[in-house]
Amino acid sequence: MHLTMSLLLGVNIDHVATLRQARYAGALDLPHAEPNPLEAGHDAHAGGADSLTLHVRGDRRHMQDADAFRVRSEIPLPLNFEMGVTEEMVRIALALKPDFACLVPESRMEITTEGGLDVLNGLDPIRIVVARLQDAGIKVSLFVDPDLRHIDAAVKSRADMIELHTGAFANAQGDAVESELARLITAAIAGHAAGLQVNAGHGIHYTNLSQILTVPHLTELNIGHSIVSRAIRVGMTAAVREMKDFMAPYSG
Ligand code: PXP
Repeated sequence: MHLTMSLLLGVNIDHVATLRQARYAGALDLPHAEPNPLEAGHDAHAGGADSLTLHVRGDRRHMQDADAFRVRSEIPLPLNFEMGVTEEMVRIALALKPDFACLVPESRMEITTEGGLDVLNGLDPIRIVVARLQDAGIKVSLFVDPDLRHIDAAVKSRADMIELHTGAFANAQGDAVESELARLITAAIAGHAAGLQVNAGHGIHYTNLSQILTVPHLTELNIGHSIVSRAIRVGMTAAVREMKDFMAPYSG
């Protein structure tokens, strides 16, 4: 019997906090410091989100530490913690105990030309962080460009998963759209063949999603900006439900 798993949706709620910080960065204790990422997380849950993603950045530009801990303790969904490869973030992750951690670049040194984590040049520190997180029971993902060299390096890091950076595809125009899609397909096949769980994210929206659904072997999509934007018009629960409905035809 051939069982097909449905494609999972991780909803990134960072930009709810971006909007709150725009007005209340210096006054988060005010009871009306809004919008509230915790409420957005509950609404995403109601809309069928399979997990929540949040990123506490070194500069705290959107999510704050307290947001992460409240979401973790109050929302019964798997949590994916995006984090830079820093000692500060490892300590937060070990205290937060998310289900998953996704290592992402924050400093210029860590960023490849296209924007994924530079696993090739950062393999040693990345491998150490992967092991520390895994020892705490956290599954680890690396946010990588669809580039076979970085996927090979991800295998060497002993990460559990990769998240393919779909930003170059999302920004492509004309003939470049098909070539970027082809790169994602090649990378997904290679990652899957190497035994990695393959996720994808960045710049996916309700329109380009149909092309992303042609990429094989995907387990989860992480989508933030387009869902939070749509939520302004229809509410978070409906925005998530719509995205899940659009993802439903995926056949792997
Ligand atoms: N995946 C990763 C690793 C991210 O850093 C982000 C946020 O930039 C996303 C997915 C979601 O991207 P977007 O907000 O464009 O949907």
